[in-house]
Amino acid sequence: MEEDHIAERGSRPMDAIVLLKDDHKTVEKLFKQFEKAGDDAYKEKRQIVDQIIHELTTHAYIEEEIFYPMARQDVPATEDHVLESVEEHHVVVWMLSELKDLDPKDERFDAKVTVLMENVRHHVEEEEQEWFPKVREAMGRNELQEVGERMEKAKAEAPDDPLALISARK
Ligand SMILES: [Fe+2]
Ligand SMILES: [Fe+2]
Repeated sequence: MEEDHIAERGSRPMDAIVLLKDDHKTVEKLFKQFEKAGDDAYKEKRQIVDQIIHELTTHAYIEEEIFYPMARQDVPATEDHVLESVEEHHVVVWMLSELKDLDPKDERFDAKVTVLMENVRHHVEEEEQEWFPKVREAMGRNELQEVGERMEKAKAEAPDDPLALISARK
């Protein structure tokens, strides 16, 4: 299965940072869909938010299990960024766990999704602008491709529950 998925992307090996940025784009598309959904489109909003929960949980899982520890170890200059990123994930995964059980008709639903989107957009900008470039600079192409393929495979092992992630811990 995973092999097929990799093959679908063409023959070029998976680059870790390209993979993570692709995930960011997928999530941003879902955010835009949510913003376009009508106030009373409860069923649609529920479906979009369930997809957001799935995509973000999977993405945070591969970052926390593979990319962040690798960055911290191989590119020590990223350490503070990594630690800050984990704290940002912490807030996000708790919000995801609340949204999982929150009725889209609840008056807090849209507000909670809005704050989630603000948090994630800020977080993605920091990753892409402030510290992923340092990782790219310091690491070789082959290593980034090897890590990318490992992350693609690890997606299949991601938990459904956002609170099962390392960053959810207190
Ligand atoms: Fe992240
Ligand atoms: Fe990310």
